[in-house]
Amino acid sequence: SVYADQDAGSIEIAARIAALIVAKQEKREVAVLGLATGASPVKVYTELVRLHKEEGLSFKNVVTFNLDEYFPMSPTSDQSYVRFMKRHLFDHVDIAEENIHIPDGTIPVEEVHTFCESYEHKISSYGGIDIQLVGIGRTGHIGFNEPGSAPNSGTRLVTLDDLTRRDASRDFGGKENVPVKAITMGVGTIFKAKKILLMAWNEKKAAIVKQAVEGEISADIPATYLQLAAQVEVILDKDAASLL
Ligand code: GLP
Repeated sequence: SVYADQDAGSIEIAARIAALIVAKQEKREVAVLGLATGASPVKVYTELVRLHKEEGLSFKNVVTFNLDEYFPMSPTSDQSYVRFMKRHLFDHVDIAEENIHIPDGTIPVEEVHTFCESYEHKISSYGGIDIQLVGIGRTGHIGFNEPGSAPNSGTRLVTLDDLTRRDASRDFGGKENVPVKAITMGVGTIFKAKKILLMAWNEKKAAIVKQAVEGEISADIPATYLQLAAQVEVILDKDAASLL
């Protein structure tokens, strides 16, 4: 779907998430959300915080799994996705600390594999992700699934693409400070979600959106794999959709 601007698209996504949370509350069940970082979801989180503060939307039955985290990364570092999520969402709503899951950037590298397996198990133990939010990077990555990622890949340690590190360099004050690796849910992990909302805003994303939606399915642009998933919905503003 194409919306007039990022605000309108973000409000729609937040409304869908809120509807899921309320429906699950009525059934005394948990709502399992897969969350993304980066600039794209910020206004979705702003709207969710508004719904909490002004309309009483409770997050007590919400369980979250974030897509990714830099590695290594301290949770107290300003660039960590832990800090990002607290700043934009978790510090402002009534979610229980134990319901929040973000890949751990502090574990020893030899324990990463076990950590990633248990991340997958935890997602399954809650019955899987109900709504997964995903942005798209300029390399065509989803989460941190860079070019070359397999469609059935699971949560794992990956090496970041040079372009991804360049795009992140502003946050880190120089590309040399951007971690070389990250832990990310795999393409296969994302595919298991019951609903996937891919969002992209502004003309900077128009070219990669066109490739992702209309291009040949290929590991060169992992976002093209989403063409294979029936439960995907692409939510764009006019500018991001301008080349379609
Ligand atoms: C980072 C995140 C991705 C995100 C991408 C796009 O690489 N790990 O999950 O989709 O940035 O970021 P933005 O939304 O800021 O364009």
